[in-house]
Amino acid sequence: MSTSACHAGRSSRRALRVGGRRAAAWAIPIAFLSAACTRPLPDADGPGARVYAAQCGICHVAYQPGLMTPAMWEIQVARMDEHRSRRGLPPLADADRRVILEYLKAHAG
Ligand code: HEC
Repeated sequence: MSTSACHAGRSSRRALRVGGRRAAAWAIPIAFLSAACTRPLPDADGPGARVYAAQCGICHVAYQPGLMTPAMWEIQVARMDEHRSRRGLPPLADADRRVILEYLKAHAG
């Protein structure tokens, strides 16, 4: 499952390369990727966005909340515990998990 704008940028890069015009194929997706991945989070200065960015931007960019539905965010946040333990990080604190899910759902797609 890949619904983030960042991932979408990667697949379009692959698709363009199939066309064989490599130089041109790189230029467009890179511009797209940086625009898609550095867009500020909604309500970026609020407490929800700050906890989210701090906890969920460790291993990858903090994805835009609008990329997933509330139900998908429930699943993704739970899934990330496995990645945390693989990296030797403790599970997300309950309070942080609550704040993050509230934030993601409030701005979900
Ligand atoms: C310890 C590292 C780590 C942390 C911390 C982490 N993630 Fe991830 N995340 C990953 C890895 C590795 C992947 C790619 C593999 C995968 O999808 O399981 C990923 C993928 C994702 C994806 C993409 C799934 C897809 O199908 O494209 C989402 C969404 C996501 N993480 C959300 C979160 C959220 C929300 C948090 C905070 C609660 C978080 N991540 C914190 C490691 C982490």
